[in-house]
Amino acid sequence: MQENQFIPKSYSNSIEKGSFTWSSPSNIALVKYWGKKKDQIPENPSISFTLNNCKTITKLSFSKKESTDHFAFDVFLDDEKKDDFKPKIETFFKRIETYLPFLKGFYFKIETSNTFPHSSGIASSASGMSALALCLMSIEKELSGNIILDEVFYQKASFLARLGSGSACRSLEGDLIVWGNHKNIEGSSNLFGVKYPYQVHENFKNYQDTILLVDKGEKQVSSTVGHNLMHNHPFAQERFKQASANLNKLIPILKTGDMDGFIALVESEALTLHAMMMTSMPYFILMKPNTLEIINKIWSFRQNTGSKICFTLDAGANVHVLYPENESDKIVEFIKNELVVFCQKGEYIKDKIGFGAQLL
Ligand code: DP6
Repeated sequence: MQENQFIPKSYSNSIEKGSFTWSSPSNIALVKYWGKKKDQIPENPSISFTLNNCKTITKLSFSKKESTDHFAFDVFLDDEKKDDFKPKIETFFKRIETYLPFLKGFYFKIETSNTFPHSSGIASSASGMSALALCLMSIEKELSGNIILDEVFYQKASFLARLGSGSACRSLEGDLIVWGNHKNIEGSSNLFGVKYPYQVHENFKNYQDTILLVDKGEKQVSSTVGHNLMHNHPFAQERFKQASANLNKLIPILKTGDMDGFIALVESEALTLHAMMMTSMPYFILMKPNTLEIINKIWSFRQNTGSKICFTLDAGANVHVLYPENESDKIVEFIKNELVVFCQKGEYIKDKIGFGAQLL
C-alpha cells in the first residue's frame, strides 16, 4: 500500500451541506511509539488496547462555500469557541488536503467534547483526531455515492488520523491495534493501524484499565517535541529494535495468556519510554513523585497477593493500572484503599478495553 492509493480519482455526487457525528475512543499503548520520521512515519511498530469509556465526540457540520483557495473552519470545545485549537487543525488539513481534495470547498464547524475531563492530563489528540478523520471520511463517502467499503473507509480514516497525530491511527477500531510495519504481523503498515490479526487468549478479554490522575495539568513537554528528541538520541536505534522485538514477544504471550510475560513486557515498555525522555538532550522527566509511589505500591501488592495487576504510562505522570476482569473487585478495593491518595483530588477513571468508534 502506497500513500498515493489514498488519493481519490473523482467524486460522483455533489453536496451543499450536512453534518456527521462520530464518537471515537482513546487508546493505551502496550508497546510504545516514540520516535518518528517525516510525514508521521513511526520509527518502530506499536500496539495498543482501544479504550471504552474515554472518548471524544465530534460533530462536523459543513456547507459549501464560494472560494476554494483557503481552509475555513471554527472549532468549539463544550460549546466554547477555541481559536487556540485552530493551528493544529490547519496543519492537519494541510497534510491531508491531497487525500481529501474537497476540503477547501466547504466551511466546517467542528464541535467537540470529551467524556473525560479536559484537564485530566489524558491526551485527547488520539480520540480527537480520529473522530475528526472519521467525520471527514463520512463526507467523502457521501461524495462518492456511498460506495466505499467499510474496510477501505476505516483504513483511509486511520491513514488520515495518523497525519493528525500518530497514535490517533490506533483509535478507530477495537480492541487491539497494531501500527507500523512488522515482519511477523500480517497486514501491518506504517501508514495506518490494523486490527491485531492473531489469536488472543481469554485472559485478555475485557481487560481493565483504571487511569489514576496523578497530575491533571498541561504537560511541560509535548509528545511532538519528545518524538523529535529521538533524532540523534544515543539509544534510539537500540530502542527501535527493542520495540520490534517486544512486539514479536507479545504474539505468543497474547496467544497463550501468559500473564507474567505480559506484565514484564508492558511495565518494561512503560519505563523504557520514560527512560528515553530522561536520556534525551535536553532531558526531561514527566513522572511525578506520586507516579513512583503508585508503581511501588503496585509492585508490593503483586508480590504479596499474587495478583496479575500491572501498570503502564503514556507521555505524562498518570498511571494506567491494567488487570484482568476476574480481579476487578479486589483491585478496585486496593485502588480505593491505597492508590487514590496519590491522585490529584483523589480522581481516577475506570475504563476497559473497547470496541471502537461509532457513527452517532
Ligand atoms: C507516549 O501520537 O501523541 O503515547 O504523533 O506527535 O501527535 P504525535 O504524538 P502522539 O504520541 C504518543 C506517544 C505515546 C506512546 C503511544 O501512544 O504509542
